[in-house]
Amino acid sequence: MFNYFFFDFFMVYELLMKLTHVPVKKITLRKLNLTKDISNKYLKWMNDLEVHKYTEQKYTKHSLINIRKFVKEKNKSKNEFMYGIFLKRNNLNIHIGNIKLGPINFIHKTGEISYFIGEKELWGKGYTTLAIKEITKIAKKMGLKKLKAGLYEMNIGSKKVLEKNNFKLEGKMKSEIIHKGKRYNSYWFGKIL
Ligand SMILES: CC(C)(COP(=O)(O)OP(=O)(O)OC[C@H]1O[C@@H](n2cnc3c(N)ncnc32)[C@H](O)[C@@H]1OP(=O)(O)O)[C@@H](O)C(=O)NCCC(=O)NCCS
Repeated sequence: MFNYFFFDFFMVYELLMKLTHVPVKKITLRKLNLTKDISNKYLKWMNDLEVHKYTEQKYTKHSLINIRKFVKEKNKSKNEFMYGIFLKRNNLNIHIGNIKLGPINFIHKTGEISYFIGEKELWGKGYTTLAIKEITKIAKKMGLKKLKAGLYEMNIGSKKVLEKNNFKLEGKMKSEIIHKGKRYNSYWFGKIL
């Protein structure tokens, strides 16, 4: 009886959270571990043309070797800081995507951000909105005064996560990209910290 009550309670709670678009579980950001986090799951995300349809990653055939090399470089870098986005579930921290702060211009105190959630079934649950909130705190602690992000104009999800974090459209770059044989604009969003 007691167990059934909790089972139902949590089912209703999860459903309510989904309906209200509040993330059910919190995310954390941390640097990627070169042995534990360079997984086949991560490789699959990088070669997934649906995940990367609006990013430049789709033009690269990824391997575990080039991912490890990339993460190693970022972990050593002094002006690019890459973090895994980890979702807390049943006391485990599950790697679901990445967010990067950088390149950073320390003279002008500005930095770019880029992000993706590799697990497609976790899109639309608020996790990137939260990850951008976290990376903004990190950027402020570093003394940065402005963040910016570039995106393809048709990437509605990316535009929304930026707007939800109070980034504003600053520039439309005309006819910057080719997508499915047609030319499109790209956007730059910025946020003064
Ligand atoms: C774009 C992306 C990062 C958004 O991340 P996310 O965790 O799904 O975003 P959130 O859940 O925080 O979404 C915020 C809003 O965007 C909406 N959204 C997310 N993905 C969407 C999509 N593909 N199409 C339309 N709206 C979308 C959400 O429904 C939510 O809207 P709401 O608040 O009005 O309900 C994610 O879809 C992704 O990883 N895409 C592939 C990689 C990519 O394009 N990266 C960005 C390159 S610039």
